[in-house]
Amino acid sequence: MSIALIILAAGKGTRMESDLPKVLHRIAHAPMLWHAMRAGQVLEPGRTIVVAGHEADMVAASAQAYDPEAQIVLQSEQNGTAHAVAQAAPALAGFNGDAIVLYGDTPFIRQETLEEMARARAHHDIVVLGFEAADPGRYGRLVTEGDALLRIVEYKDANEDERAITLCNSGLMAADATVLMDLVAQVGNDNAAGEYYLTDIIALARARGLSAGVVHCAESETMGVNSRSELARAEVSFQQTTRARLIDDGVSLQAPDTVWLAWDTVIGRDAEIEPNVVFGPGVTIESDARIRAFSHLEGCHVSRGAIVGPFARLRLGAELAEDSHVGNFVEIKNAYLGEGVKANHLTYIGDADIGDRSNIGAGTVTCNYDGVFKHRTIIGKDAFIGSDTMLVAPVTIGDGAMTGSGSVITSDVPAGALGIGRARQETKAGFATRLRDMLRAKKKEQNKG
Ligand code: UD1
Ligand code: MG
Repeated sequence: MSIALIILAAGKGTRMESDLPKVLHRIAHAPMLWHAMRAGQVLEPGRTIVVAGHEADMVAASAQAYDPEAQIVLQSEQNGTAHAVAQAAPALAGFNGDAIVLYGDTPFIRQETLEEMARARAHHDIVVLGFEAADPGRYGRLVTEGDALLRIVEYKDANEDERAITLCNSGLMAADATVLMDLVAQVGNDNAAGEYYLTDIIALARARGLSAGVVHCAESETMGVNSRSELARAEVSFQQTTRARLIDDGVSLQAPDTVWLAWDTVIGRDAEIEPNVVFGPGVTIESDARIRAFSHLEGCHVSRGAIVGPFARLRLGAELAEDSHVGNFVEIKNAYLGEGVKANHLTYIGDADIGDRSNIGAGTVTCNYDGVFKHRTIIGKDAFIGSDTMLVAPVTIGDGAMTGSGSVITSDVPAGALGIGRARQETKAGFATRLRDMLRAKKKEQNKG
């Protein structure tokens, strides 16, 4: 059966004290909205509908950057969660199947939980995700009788007995899309907040003879983010969970608390991550690779057996083949390093292709930028680039070629050739001794005066 995701993301998030809409604040480099959208992917949604309101253009652009097929509907005034869901009606035209309502500011919902909600639909017309709250605070309360959910009462409207209930509403719901749209259209705003509450659909559904039930999740999954301090806590929580998952999956983290992961970091089994490594978005590390201490990686791929760092920086488009080595104070951007390539010390490689087994000497720089255009450096297999070579791109170094240390290479070096471009050395016998004697004599003269 096909499923539609309806993601509520119209709210402003006043307490964030920010010009950025709340759902676009990032956790592990991805907007919170993406975390919610990603969780929903497990249901293989036929449609994804994002309800935007505050800064709708920004929210729409971000949603479509994640999923170009996401449909955006506008809720120009935030009149409540039922009103928000009702805006999805046109986008659901012709859709047959279930709809599931998610919040854009609740990034930690687990995929397993969403699957459980989808399964529970076999037993109930409406499924609500609830949790036992340590401190129920202002959450909506779930009023149940045995297996059945009778209604949801918002805190503001609840009496003392209802406020004593600790089973709370996460906000997530699943129902047949047509039924859901019918129900939200019926919701009124005669309540303490003067809002159209999505939570009212439970009582409305039961009045029609439909059933409602609860799926339970851990409170941590429904953690919402309403302020900067909650965002900071959410980041820590994401990091801890993700580190623990990687460790369970067979990755070695020597000092887990010092490794910072991105929302999409992929690390293979038996890879080793030393302390103080930072992953930006878009990194994949294959099995048996080793990322040494204090390295920073983003938008790159590291193959099996490669060694990176300590103190290396891999930027967007760095692609390291098997058993390649990238050492300290080496920066690599938009470049392919073939199998067994070594660039071990103090080097910048940008916009380059380096063939298998080539060695890049200390201090080598690809001079890839002329102030206007970027140019490529091509190095063949088994080449040897002498220390402190400046490779002025565009330039090609052939298979097995060499460059002399300290060369500025401005033209191609064919296969098997040596390219050398530096001033020829002159050696002046005794000159150093004479010069030093002269300078010392001068200093003595000055000290007298
Ligand atoms: C809601 C629930 C409450 C539940 C709590 C869980 C209702 C009436 N109440 O309350 O039972 O315990 O969530 O966190 O549903 N939004 C819109 N448009 C609107 C209003 C809200 O898009 O007009 C979005 C918000 O951006 C947010 C989500 O819906 O992502 C929830 O809205 P919020 O105002 O936080 O609802 P709560 O009062 O927390
Ligand atoms: Mg809320």
